[in-house]
Amino acid sequence: MLFDFSQIAPQDAYKLVVSSVVPRPIAWVVTQDAAGVVNAAPYSFFNAFSDNPVVVGIGCGPKAPGALKDTAANIKETGQFTVCLVPEQAIHAMNATAVDFAPEVDELKEAGLTALPSAKIRPPRIAESPVALECETFQLVPAGRHTIVLGKVLAIHIKDDCVLDAAKCYVDTPKLNLVGRMHGRGWYTRTTDRLEVPRMTVAEWEAKKKAAE
Ligand SMILES: Cc1cc2nc3c(=O)[nH]c(=O)nc-3n(C[C@H](O)[C@H](O)[C@H](O)COP(=O)(O)O)c2cc1C
Repeated sequence: MLFDFSQIAPQDAYKLVVSSVVPRPIAWVVTQDAAGVVNAAPYSFFNAFSDNPVVVGIGCGPKAPGALKDTAANIKETGQFTVCLVPEQAIHAMNATAVDFAPEVDELKEAGLTALPSAKIRPPRIAESPVALECETFQLVPAGRHTIVLGKVLAIHIKDDCVLDAAKCYVDTPKLNLVGRMHGRGWYTRTTDRLEVPRMTVAEWEAKKKAAE
């Protein structure tokens, strides 16, 4: 079935996209306003896009028509944010930080989470997350009612016991136990059901085709 986005309401386009572009990683974004009040919220319009520089992107919708959510407002104001990734153990705390609190509420405190200092930026990271990316604004791209925040990643923290070999930069990805966002409100997926499909050279592909003849 074809859904032509020029013919349907934006809220229906949203439903179609978030129900089908799955699973999505979740950026648990920590920011601070100019006065230092800490803010945290999850964003699943999120991914990593490049490696040199490392750039991540987050799609922030409006709080109300024409008004930025606290995350985007703080990033616009300070140019700094931390992206933490969400392990299953922290899924309920993550959900608590999505409550629409007033800007002066410290969501980390509210959700019983622990703030750890970042190395290169002011906003802290979340101790309960095994991965934290320290970011500064690369570009803010307006996209209709969304603001796409592109962040340059300055440093990454990975929980010590999830690093297999620091010299080789090998990470024990299954041990991170991260979750992803699925369709609609409130649905998530674990990352425990994995499958390995080795990449092929042209020669390997040709050999495979020949073997199947
Ligand atoms: C798992 C999850 C993913 C979310 N993803 C987004 C998103 O990609 N964009 C967005 O604007 N809001 C998203 N939200 C809603 C925000 O987290 C919510 O509006 C929050 O209150 C914003 O907080 P802030 O104003 O402190 O930034 C998501 C919520 C949850 C629970």
